[in-house]
Amino acid sequence: MASVVDIGIDLGTASVIVCLKDEGIVLEEPSVVAINTATKEVLSVGDEAYKMIGRTPDKIRAVRPLEDGVISDYELTEKMIKYFIRKVCGRNVIKPRICLCVPSGITDVESRAVVEAAAAAGARKVFLIEEPVAAALGAGIDISKPCGHMILDIGGGTADIAVISLNGIVVKTSIKIAGNAFDAAIIRAIRDNHQLLIGEKMAETLKREIGTVYGFETEKTYDIKGRNLITGLPQKITVTSTEIKEALEENTLQILSALHSVIERTPPELVGDIHTNGILMTGGGSMIHGLDKRIEEATKIKARLAEQPIESVALGTALSFSSIDDLADGFTSPATYK
Ligand SMILES: Nc1ncnc2c1ncn2[C@@H]1O[C@H](COP(=O)(O)OP(=O)(O)O)[C@@H](O)[C@H]1O
Ligand SMILES: [Mg+2]
Repeated sequence: MASVVDIGIDLGTASVIVCLKDEGIVLEEPSVVAINTATKEVLSVGDEAYKMIGRTPDKIRAVRPLEDGVISDYELTEKMIKYFIRKVCGRNVIKPRICLCVPSGITDVESRAVVEAAAAAGARKVFLIEEPVAAALGAGIDISKPCGHMILDIGGGTADIAVISLNGIVVKTSIKIAGNAFDAAIIRAIRDNHQLLIGEKMAETLKREIGTVYGFETEKTYDIKGRNLITGLPQKITVTSTEIKEALEENTLQILSALHSVIERTPPELVGDIHTNGILMTGGGSMIHGLDKRIEEATKIKARLAEQPIESVALGTALSFSSIDDLADGFTSPATYK
């Protein structure tokens, strides 16, 4: 890669996605870092580190530095960003401009730290963009008009809801109910219903394979293995999609209620626009089966999943360079670094 000039990065709680304006997505890896707990040395980042989750000996730990949409470990976040930027830029001579999207829950001080990490990794200029703005851009919505659009982004750590008009956010909210919470709810349900302990990866597999918040026409089943809490021995059981739906019901209602509260706070003209335009769903968590139908039933507004739900934000960060001058509100704190 000879001249990477503009780089868009979606620094998600579950995955980091890097997009170049002309080349599209060039990197997509889990936001995981494996460290030696004794020396704090970083052993691996991304795909390699992900493979270690739940399988590490005592002295190695695989951590998600952005868990739950906040920076739980500042130093690791910095190392992770640098690693990904260097991986994309290689021995690039031209210093790139970088547009970063960070989890909505992070504080100004933390954002500053992320910006500095990107600058230290070789950026000429760093911009921060708000997630819903990036998600809308990435999904191909023209947000420059005085017309309201509602975005629901469900990632790993947070679900973010925003109403956008004229390149800026009019109303928004963020709740810590998203993909990770779904997985945790599945782990609890399997424990309570079957006295079986399963790991987060198994819970995620169940969610993707037979997960639903609406119910399938024909029930689905999936065989899983875990440890029986009473005998302490391995056991195989069959889980049904109905069971997963029940496990996810409480989280589903929390998301629907957050949507409702944003609609209530939205100015009437924009509510009319949203009724016409529908609700756009982005983020991996939005891919759970039946969420669109649940939203439509609850809000009487059409909901549609973006064509590339997981990549929308990253695509938007790269596209944002074209409208950099107009995105006054989306670019929360533009900063220039030598
Ligand atoms: N097909 C799917 N069905 C349900 N959930 C999914 C699916 N694919 C990914 N996910 C979930 O999406 C979440 C990650 O979404 P993503 O948008 O990448 O998060 P982030 O922006 O926080 O990095 C994870 O919890 C993952 O389990
Ligand atoms: Mg995201």
